[in-house]
Amino acid sequence: MCGIVGYVGEQAALDVVLDGLRRLEYRGYDSAGVAVVADGALAMTKAAGKLANLEKALSAEPVPSSSTGIGHTRWATHGPPTDRNAHPHLDEAGRVAVIHNGIIENFARLRHELERAGVTFQSDTDTEVVSHLLAAEVAAGAELGDAMRTVCRRLDGAFTLVAVHSEAPDRVVAARRNSPLVVGLGAGENFVASDVSAFIAHTRDALEVADGQVVEITPDTVVLTDFDGAPVPERRFHVDWDAAAAEKDGHDYFMLKEIAEQPKAVADTLLGRIDEAGNLTLDEMRLSDDELREIDKIIILAAGTSYYAGLVAKYAIEHWTRIACEVELASEFRYRDPIVDRGTLVVVISQSGETMDTLMALRYARDQGARVLAICNTNGATIPRESDAVLYTRAGIEVAVASTKAFLTQIVACYLVALYLGQIRGTKWGDEVAGVLRDLAAMPPKVERVLASMEPVRELARSLADATSVLFLGRHVGYPVALEGALKLKEIAYMHAEGFAAGELKHGPIALIEDGVPVFVVVPSPQGRSVLHDKIVSNIQEVRARGARTIVIAEEGDETVEPYADHLIRVPVCPTLLQPLVAVVPLQVFACEMAAVRGFDVDQPRNLAKSVTVE
Ligand code: F6R
Repeated sequence: MCGIVGYVGEQAALDVVLDGLRRLEYRGYDSAGVAVVADGALAMTKAAGKLANLEKALSAEPVPSSSTGIGHTRWATHGPPTDRNAHPHLDEAGRVAVIHNGIIENFARLRHELERAGVTFQSDTDTEVVSHLLAAEVAAGAELGDAMRTVCRRLDGAFTLVAVHSEAPDRVVAARRNSPLVVGLGAGENFVASDVSAFIAHTRDALEVADGQVVEITPDTVVLTDFDGAPVPERRFHVDWDAAAAEKDGHDYFMLKEIAEQPKAVADTLLGRIDEAGNLTLDEMRLSDDELREIDKIIILAAGTSYYAGLVAKYAIEHWTRIACEVELASEFRYRDPIVDRGTLVVVISQSGETMDTLMALRYARDQGARVLAICNTNGATIPRESDAVLYTRAGIEVAVASTKAFLTQIVACYLVALYLGQIRGTKWGDEVAGVLRDLAAMPPKVERVLASMEPVRELARSLADATSVLFLGRHVGYPVALEGALKLKEIAYMHAEGFAAGELKHGPIALIEDGVPVFVVVPSPQGRSVLHDKIVSNIQEVRARGARTIVIAEEGDETVEPYADHLIRVPVCPTLLQPLVAVVPLQVFACEMAAVRGFDVDQPRNLAKSVTVE
């Protein structure tokens, strides 16, 4: 959700903080603010709207130069996105500045208590209580770090907090519980941030901050403790991508860049995973083959696009392993009394590794005794840290809010897990596994070919810019692809879009079809399951007969669909289970072009944020 950055060192803090905020703006972007410590005082500027507004305000009224600063981009929870509610928040004397990500659940009680003690609040936020509580601790003689620990013990809910004090010119203090925070380790300078992209231009060495910890940074020291002040062991890591990876690289939008990166992302996810004996290597494996042989049920938990990747994976998992596989929205899972035990393998899928719904579902599953395997794109994030085993997707940083390359790589990673399970449980022979791996290795050039043929799809988007609704149909693995196509269009082009299992049409949704309604249909290969193919060809005819404008995604050489397609998008021939990797690409490109032509911000759609750290 919100983007957070803090800096102490020899550089101009404001420049470092603003640069970090630019890289974090994808996390939240409804207001932004900075505070620096200079000459024994705090200087603060904040502005509603995108970061550009803050930058304008800072050029109109510069803050004094300083080597200690904090900054924030907000995704509003408490109080509308106004200047007043933008972070940082100060105490009454203006000595403590605080920025925050998350929700302080007992803020109403704390606010009431502070107001009764005579404190006047300046904002509607939950965050402001922390500024006043910290100030009271410091006024009573505590150091800023001790004050933070004391205050954290009083807070319920999820938070990353970062604070500076006017009389502590070279110190930034931060704390986390159930909300992301990492430390960047530089030479003569240190950083705290919501994710490494904020400081990657300065250092690739980082330190994890776990839940329930406070970190104090000065230019030369980093001190990590728990909320009671006891020292905790450090876990350092090195970031394996650089600042250039977080740039647009000549593309108009991050989303376009990330769509274009998909062939490489898929290849990287496969790279070096299989040893000479044909065994899959997971990144962090704290589960033995014997434990995996005991598994009698798999439950996949995820949100949004990652959930759709899970829906695709279910088909392969059940087909290759013969283990029953459920896929559930993480936000629903723990509220339905699910049947989970030691025989259950829970697979959590998350690009960011910080999605709160998924994290809470994971914890619930572990509490019930399940073994948890994470499929994640972000090294050192909370979800992989709390799982028994991890397979990283290695898609590289995804900046656009609309997820693209994560989807493809999550499917590939799930397939690797399924093959591994199939192999060790004997439901797949070594040569069968090797055959699928060869098919997977052939996918990057196929995705490349789809990318090279997208101009007609962009033209189609331009011609449909005034459509009021777009429908997406699929069957089998094409069904989650249809859902993903609709999600992309909703989130960035703000169009009504819905995905359906094509067989469900006649049970209601077909009533939506009227003259000219664009309907995308993902057609399975006629060579895989011809019965599926024939059924969907009938579905295309049904909607076309009722006036739909059909946009058919079908494999090269499939001539049977031609008479029923108003627009035909060709994708390379692939095995049935791998078709989603090519079929989704035109839908991503269509949504991206549609958003652009309708004049919307492709990378930062309204009301959304990249990493959803509230439930
Ligand atoms: C859609 C999108 C979201 C995320 C969802 C889960 O384009 O980006 O639906 O897929 O919020 O996020 P992660 O994968 O980070 O857990």
